[in-house]
Amino acid sequence: MTVTAFDESERRAWAGQAAAYARSFAELCAYPVARLLDAAEVQEGTRLLDVGTGTGNAALAACERGAKVTAVDAEPGMVAFAAQAAPTVDVRLAALPDLPFADDEFDAVVGNFVLNHVGRPRAALAELRRLTRPGGRIAVTIWAVPAAAGQALLGRAVQAAGVTRPAHLPALSPEDDFPRTEQGFATLLDEVGLVDVSCDTLVWNHRATPEEWWSGPAAGVATIGQIVTGQPSAVISETRTATTRCVRSSPARTVCWRCLTQP
Ligand SMILES: C[S@@+](CC[C@H](N)C(=O)[O-])C[C@H]1O[C@@H](n2cnc3c(N)ncnc32)[C@H](O)[C@@H]1O
Repeated sequence: MTVTAFDESERRAWAGQAAAYARSFAELCAYPVARLLDAAEVQEGTRLLDVGTGTGNAALAACERGAKVTAVDAEPGMVAFAAQAAPTVDVRLAALPDLPFADDEFDAVVGNFVLNHVGRPRAALAELRRLTRPGGRIAVTIWAVPAAAGQALLGRAVQAAGVTRPAHLPALSPEDDFPRTEQGFATLLDEVGLVDVSCDTLVWNHRATPEEWWSGPAAGVATIGQIVTGQPSAVISETRTATTRCVRSSPARTVCWRCLTQP
């Protein structure tokens, strides 16, 4: 299956960023993990796949429930980090939408904030469906749009420093995109033939210091990090100041959609 320009850009955005991600955005992304595992009914003995495992937070939490966990990520540094963090997990290098597993190999699949990072969300979900046994469960999260204050905080800081998204950064093609609403997300899952789809909203307050918020972009983590570190040093410094201002003035309320389904 073709790797899209969006996928290539995502690979660059995560390359070599495992340790910096662990120190920054991983904590923000960890909030829904327990709810995600509950939605997928992960328990003792569940054969679970965690896709886009990153530094392995969901995989590790699933191990603690006694699940038999396999995890994949497209970034070799993330694979190494997760393998060390969760030594009982079978962690492999693999990228959606083509995963090296047999049909129906898993009882459950979870993907915490990975569908936002794939070039072909429908193909990725179809692949998760293929790997999940009939009657098994798939649970995934994405960020909501419009973004709540906490999600939008770094974007606001970047804008306040006069930085705009560089034209060379690819977006999803219109035919691959979908509305980032509860309904839009649920419809996407319906479209790939999943059944009993339900989607709900998780809201939490992410409390972090200005330095903690800034550490991800400053290190170049994710697309926002690529945008920030590509600026002249005076603009980087201005963005840092704007981040501090935004953290002090804004409640960091954060929202994501969680979807649950069966193949
Ligand atoms: C926001 S992080 C989430 C990591 C982890 N699930 C967590 O909750 O902390 C996104 C992860 O998805 C991975 N990723 C991006 N595109 C991917 C793809 N096509 N297939 C598998 N993993 C991918 C990135 O390398 C990164 O580790």
